[in-house]
Amino acid sequence: MDTADTATVTSIPRIGDKAPSFKAVTTQGEITFPDQFAGSWVILFSHPADFTPVCTSEFITFASLEPKFAEVNCKLVGLSIDGLYSHIAWLRTIKEKIEYRGMKNVEVKFPLIEDITMTVARKYGMLQPGESSTKAVRAVFIIDTKGTIRAVIYYPLSLGRNFDELYRVVVALQTADAFQIATPADWRPGDDVIVPTAGSCGVAKDRMDGKEEMTCLDWFFCTKKLDKDKIMAAITKK
Ligand code: BEZ
Repeated sequence: MDTADTATVTSIPRIGDKAPSFKAVTTQGEITFPDQFAGSWVILFSHPADFTPVCTSEFITFASLEPKFAEVNCKLVGLSIDGLYSHIAWLRTIKEKIEYRGMKNVEVKFPLIEDITMTVARKYGMLQPGESSTKAVRAVFIIDTKGTIRAVIYYPLSLGRNFDELYRVVVALQTADAFQIATPADWRPGDDVIVPTAGSCGVAKDRMDGKEEMTCLDWFFCTKKLDKDKIMAAITKK
């Protein structure tokens, strides 16, 4: 195995890296990733296997939320180490037979990558042999409009993901970009946001003196109000 192969087998892309590129066959035709998604945010996520219950509950949930992600300019792309015909049969079964938490007749319209060769799964560190050497773990890569990885989350096989949390992550990242702020624990749009630490003593003193419209718990921890409507106006796709 040469150096390039070793890197392919072991690589785990990190936050701040450019999303590794690939071409793949999907349930929606061929895709060129991430170039084809330039200008949109995209969530690339893997699941262990078609025709399994946790994955089925995830797909129904994610597909039902797709319009909400589209509103914030975020596309979805799934992947598993199954073939195209398995994907097609599974998605048809989901639409025709499965009802989950009141969601039924759900059509999965986003692309689902076939990756029998595990080429993409290896590039994205989706194969974690301690958990399984034949199935991808539940990996989530949140990638911005320029193809940069902005968040990476991994879940084990047994744990279904929380898609409200993934939506929260996308909105928080977009809000941070649009308003140059950070978001505190459990933040939701409408909650106060964190103003980056002041770069000079003068600014820090102004903050503590209340000259800027913010609340400071200490010199390093200042928050300000940021209206939910203002956020949604800035990040919602027009
Ligand atoms: C599931 O999606 O139900 C599942 C898949 C692989 C291992 C365990 C559970």
